[in-house]
Amino acid sequence: MDQLKDLADQAQKAFAKCQTVAELDHAKAQFIGKSGVITDAMKQLSQLPNNEKPKMGALINEIKQNIESLLNSRKDQINLEVMEEQLKSDKIDVTLPGLKQAQGSLHPISLTLNRIEKIFASVGFGVAQGPEIEDDYHNFTALNIPESHPARAMHDTFYIGELVLRTHTSPVQVRYMKEHQPPIKIISPGRVYRVDSDATHSPMFHQVEGLWVDDKVSFANLKGVVQNFLQRFFEDDALTIRFRPSFFPFTEPSAEIDMSWNGGWLEIGGCGMVHPEVLSQASIDPDKFQGFAFGLGVERLTMLKFGINDLRPFFMNDLRFLRQFAR
Ligand code: DAH
Repeated sequence: MDQLKDLADQAQKAFAKCQTVAELDHAKAQFIGKSGVITDAMKQLSQLPNNEKPKMGALINEIKQNIESLLNSRKDQINLEVMEEQLKSDKIDVTLPGLKQAQGSLHPISLTLNRIEKIFASVGFGVAQGPEIEDDYHNFTALNIPESHPARAMHDTFYIGELVLRTHTSPVQVRYMKEHQPPIKIISPGRVYRVDSDATHSPMFHQVEGLWVDDKVSFANLKGVVQNFLQRFFEDDALTIRFRPSFFPFTEPSAEIDMSWNGGWLEIGGCGMVHPEVLSQASIDPDKFQGFAFGLGVERLTMLKFGINDLRPFFMNDLRFLRQFAR
């Protein structure tokens, strides 16, 4: 009897030592499990004389309930401790900066091309594209640069069998004029290729070609269009340009375009009135139509715009360089 009464005390001590629910389950087995002390005592009830059975049975039940409630309260306590522990370690600092989504940005050359297209679009120029792998005819012959012409030597061409990597965007003039009759008013931006590499030359670079052909398009229009474009591109209304006489086989007369820069002049492209021979090659009647063409270097414009003095970083894929132009 006394032994039984001590049981609740023992159970309480055993449960108090348990730190986890698993340990508690283990301790529970010793008291009220299948082969626990209480279960044993129940089994022994049958051996008692009949008049003692009810009293003893009630006592064992009482102790059992006592132990169960001790067990439950210890279990609640352990669960609470576990939860508190978890809350402590899961602490969220709402003042920490959030996880940033990495964001890409446009390449500086793409930024320039977008800007060029936008400015020319505002004065009525569409955008035309041509292939980067060209044939000899469109890259040279149709532009009035026949087989043995010394002008071919000015272009250090990459040849691919019968084909060439276009050395300039001028072949797009011919391709476009073959498909369309005047009025023609387009620019053609894109990649061009030459065997050349140093701080200001890359074997792949970008040009933007311009072409306006109609019945009365003049050299004065050429000057107005190019100067207006450069003023807007560099956001400088005082910017002026000058034409320096030059030679290109596909224009007559031809000129180099210089623009005013830091008190001096900088060459930024070539231009001229489209040669009658080129109009004829493209099935446009040179007696009815005339127009101008120009070609500008896109890397040059970008370098001047952003104050960069070496062209190579544009194509080295170094994010430390490229990120500076992210918007
Ligand atoms: N295609 C020439 C070059 O790459 C640039 C050029 C000069 C384009 C005069 C033109 C032009 O349209 O009229 O060197």
